[in-house]
Amino acid sequence: MKKLVLSGKQIVTGAGSLSCLKELCYKRVMIVTGGSSMIRFGIIDRAKGYLESAGATVSVYSGIQKNPAIEEVEQGLQALKTFKPDCVMAIGGGSAIDAAKAMLLFYEFPFLNFENVLDYNAKGEIPVNRDTALVCIPSTSGTGSEVTRGTVITDTKKELKVPIMTDCLRPDIAILDAELTTTMPKQIVAETGMDALTHAIEAYINHNLDDFNEALCGGAIAGIMKWLPVSYEQETLEAREKVHNYQAMAGIGFANVGLGMVHGIAHSFGAAFNMAHGLTNAVILPFALEYNSKDKIVADKLAHLSYLCGCENIVDEIRKLKSRLGIPNGFKDAGITEKMYQDKYELLLAHAMLGATNVNPVKMTEEEMEKMLATVFYGEKRF
Ligand SMILES: [Fe+2]
Repeated sequence: MKKLVLSGKQIVTGAGSLSCLKELCYKRVMIVTGGSSMIRFGIIDRAKGYLESAGATVSVYSGIQKNPAIEEVEQGLQALKTFKPDCVMAIGGGSAIDAAKAMLLFYEFPFLNFENVLDYNAKGEIPVNRDTALVCIPSTSGTGSEVTRGTVITDTKKELKVPIMTDCLRPDIAILDAELTTTMPKQIVAETGMDALTHAIEAYINHNLDDFNEALCGGAIAGIMKWLPVSYEQETLEAREKVHNYQAMAGIGFANVGLGMVHGIAHSFGAAFNMAHGLTNAVILPFALEYNSKDKIVADKLAHLSYLCGCENIVDEIRKLKSRLGIPNGFKDAGITEKMYQDKYELLLAHAMLGATNVNPVKMTEEEMEKMLATVFYGEKRF
């Protein structure tokens, strides 16, 4: 038996769908957003205007950085406690959404903190229902965080990414307005798009895949392979909208199925060197697929994906896509020097064995992981 959750209460899609905020009946809305682009391009003002026209009092909490840290969440939590919203609304990239989710979790359940949250979660003692609504409006097309039950926060002291996966973090409403993605710089299009592709493929080859998520992830993979290069090169609204929708489908898929060692290794490098999550995934993905194809079921699934995408070999196509998107082959060409890599090697190895690596279709030993780390650092097969 498997219980599937395919979304919160609602997914609103379509260019211009931000205007549906006019129909929401919240009294006090705290908007959580990132650096400056959503403010600079007038998106926050538009959202605020819609909400105020519906009678809400709105406060904006901005400044969430890439790879949000525990300290940022704790600061944001104080802002929530002061403002006392009945709705937390994240507008921005995956970092803003993840930070908003963690802030909401600790606001809603004051007995939780970063020291005890994983224990409570492991014992299944975090309530599912909450009083405060969560609305997520992504401006990048990759994390799928607007439809998942997870958040990833960085513990900068331990150089460790801490994923918290619990049902109360699934947003009530996800708004997929592709107009918000038109301001994305090309590099962000490439990196976030590759994150979404990684979600869909890691879920697809995971042994926990089911019929529902096979259709969602297979469709997302074929769609992203077709439309991501168009979104990157031609920057059309149509292409941005396609990728925006497919990345949410990938998010629903991996939330129900799980991921694999691409994410395990990506979190390890991402936390150690503060690298963009999508970039780390993109570097690792083709190597990990090649490695995992030693499993016959994975090899058969990859062959079927090649058929779905109309190509000879999906792994070769991903390599071509990487180079078309300007993604380096290995981490040594992504700004990580040999010394940086060697200095952090033990930490990288230990952390790469954690998290999603535990559900990789091929069980990983430390010895095998050492070969994978060498492969992804030097950008050439070492296994
Ligand atoms: Fe991811």
